[in-house]
Amino acid sequence: MLTIAISKGRMQDDALALFARAGHLVAESELNSRKLVVSTTDGRYSFVLVKPGDVPTYVEYGVADAGVCGRDVLMESRADVHEPLDLKFGRCKIAVAGKREVLGEDYNLLATVRVGTKYPRIATDYFHAKGVPIEVIALSGSVELAPLLGLSDRIVDLVETGQTLKENGLEVIDVITESTARLIVNRASFHLKRVEVSDLITSLSRAVGPAQESEAPK
Ligand code: PRP
Repeated sequence: MLTIAISKGRMQDDALALFARAGHLVAESELNSRKLVVSTTDGRYSFVLVKPGDVPTYVEYGVADAGVCGRDVLMESRADVHEPLDLKFGRCKIAVAGKREVLGEDYNLLATVRVGTKYPRIATDYFHAKGVPIEVIALSGSVELAPLLGLSDRIVDLVETGQTLKENGLEVIDVITESTARLIVNRASFHLKRVEVSDLITSLSRAVGPAQESEAPK
């Protein structure tokens, strides 16, 4: 049996639906419970339900053989894991945003920009690549409030429908990267459990649809 870490919250339903399409179902009674470990009825997978940002940690440390998390979370974590499959759901952007007034404004390379974000590393890499000095204000949610309350000049945040930005009078200034859900696999499990991991990749790539890039275990 493989242990798979799944992001709780916005991705959980889509991830479990994908496994169900691949023929790996979780009993309704388990889904409706508050259990944090649930198993598929075919006995192949045990899902541990964890906070999105913790999925790469569980997989990198090998307490989960594989995981499902957004590319955004994976980039921010810099975890050393295999990423064999784009699962094509959870599509969003990681963008720099700010008040309409700052749109089109050039950065003053001598002045530090304050950036509110849940993605300190992605934000730092982006602004450093432009040579713009920044002060990261690390937040864990409701990031759009930061420019409204004068806590930061810009934010770096996830944009899915764009509704939260719009309703708070903010605009996208630049898109840093696109993100979708990814299957990630622990490096040791990739080799030591190659048959099971290979079955997992094959079965999920079929459920996702054609034209998947997959990296077979060597
Ligand atoms: C995310 C993100 C934005 C919002 C974007 O927050 O940080 O606030 O969703 O979605 P939209 O473009 O569809 O409006 P989340 O819902 O995860 O809650 P949080 O603010 O507590 O992090």
